Parts: sequence; structure tokens; C-alpha cells
Amino acid sequence: MTGTATKGIVLAGGRNLRLHPVTVSVCKQLLPVYDKPMVYYPLTTLMLGGVRDVLLVSTPRDTPRLEELLGDGSQWGMQIRYAVQNEPRGIAEAFIVGRSFIGESAVALILGDNIFFGSELSQKARAAIHGNRGATVFTYPVQDPRHFGVLQLDANGRPLAIEEKPPKPKSNLAVTGLYVYDNNVVEIAESVTPSDRGELEITDVNRVYLRQGRLDAVQFGRGMAWLDTGTPESLLQASLFVQTIEHRQGFKIACPEEVAWRMGWIGDEELAGLASSFSGRPYGSYLETLLADPSSTANGYAD
Ligand code: G1P
Repeated sequence: MTGTATKGIVLAGGRNLRLHPVTVSVCKQLLPVYDKPMVYYPLTTLMLGGVRDVLLVSTPRDTPRLEELLGDGSQWGMQIRYAVQNEPRGIAEAFIVGRSFIGESAVALILGDNIFFGSELSQKARAAIHGNRGATVFTYPVQDPRHFGVLQLDANGRPLAIEEKPPKPKSNLAVTGLYVYDNNVVEIAESVTPSDRGELEITDVNRVYLRQGRLDAVQFGRGMAWLDTGTPESLLQASLFVQTIEHRQGFKIACPEEVAWRMGWIGDEELAGLASSFSGRPYGSYLETLLADPSSTANGYAD
């Protein structure tokens, strides 16, 4: 690892066939999850991990729309850049597409359709980003692991094996779509060959780190939520989950303006400016409420 800050990649590609016809003309990551575009959720997960310099990778069709939504990131005290993945050739291709963006840095990758929520999130993401010694994956227990990468641990809780969508999973630990890598990931991604589905599999990249004894796993516990958005049912469930929590608590999940403010990347004045750009709408009122509440402070994310 070098001394440079860890950079972040949000991968928002794919054909999203399971959501057709909804995704015939727009990518899944721009669809709403309750009151925000889906991509806000993974983006704010990276932000909570302390990542301020982000590359958004998407399709030739969708990249301009994502840029219209997220801009250059300066409004949130960040830098957001864009790169195109011409064909959906796999998650690991993001490191090849993003080679010049990554430069000499370590990099955290998050899939644009992964939604994480819970009090463990920012602490565990930050700790992994700071302490990463090769690759770090995050696991989550699921009822049916056959649809995911699956991690098997040894008796000491160390990674033993990792398999992509195994018909007979050896554990219930799904590998989630959040990964942290050192700078070697670019050359490792270049060295893997496409799988039977024609993709550069992130699981194959993780296997290289495992063979080198440099793969660590962080377990998200049952108190966390890791939600899918790949089917009409799971997309609806994710929206209902966010609505339930937000209505109960009065706090929004995955509001980039709020996260940037609480991280201290923007001040009260900038937040007030962002609030006024949504003036008269519920989203703007929410941002105004944050500023008016004396118990809510910038520079300190109470989660
Ligand atoms: C991908 C990865 C898989 C991981 C999952 C998490 O699956 O290949 O290992 O568990 O994301 O969302 P895919 O979305 O390509 O089916």
C-alpha cells in the first residue's frame, strides 16, 4: 500500500435482465429505492468508509445520466469521475477500466445495486479500509447462498475457500458487493480469464489473494441489513425497508448531503445551499431540519 488515500469505484453496469421491461431504457442503479435513486445507497456506503474520490463505472447509455445526477461531487466535498464499461464483462473489469483513476492507490469497490444499513457499517468499513493488507471481503449470512459468492472459513475464522454461486454452498456466508483491495488488484484483474458466463469474476480475483494468504473477511452480523435489488420483489422489499426505517426514525438512509455534512466535508453554509436547491420539497425540508436541530452536529456521524 502507498500513502495515498483509498479511492472508490461504484460499478453501475450490467443488463439487469431480471428487471425487464423496467430496465429496457434505464439502468437499475437509477431506479428509486423508496425516496432516492438506488446509486445513492452504495455511494454513501463508500462515503461512510471515508472515501472521497470516486469513479463511477457504467454503460455507454447510462453514464451521462448518472453524471447528470451526481455531478463532479464537489457539492458534497468529493470528487466523482466517470468511466464507461462498453460491455458487461464482469465486476473485475472495473479495475481495468479504472486503471488510470486508481493510479498508485488502494481501492474500495462497491456494486451499484448493493444496499447496506446498520450501526456496524461505517465502523467496519472504515476499519477495513485503514487496515487492509491485501483484499478484504465482507460477508453476510443469507438463507439461500447459492445466488452469491460464498465464503468458507476455517476453525480460526480465516478464509478457507471462496466459490461463485455454488450449487452446494459450504456455508451460509454470502460475499457482499463491497470489497477493499491494495494496488495489486489492477494487475490481478488483468491476469484472470473470463468465466463460462464470459465475465471477469471478482471471485477469481479474491481467490488469487486467498492463495497468497492475503484475503481477509469481515463478517456483518445479523443486526445489519444487506438487501438485494435484482428482482421486482426484492426491489419493492428494499423500498419498503427504507420507508419503514425512515418513517420510524425521522432520519434518512443514504442521503449524500447529510453524510457529507456529518463527515465534515461540507459545512452548514453548503448544506443550507443544497437544502435551498430542493426548497419546498420534502427532501429540502429534511436537510433544513438537520441544520435546525441543535442535537445534530456536523463532524461526527452518530450511527
Ligand atoms: C456478484 C458477485 C458475487 C456476489 C454478488 C453480491 O454477483 O459475482 O460473488 O456475491 O455480486 O451482490 P452477480 O451480481 O454478478 O450475480
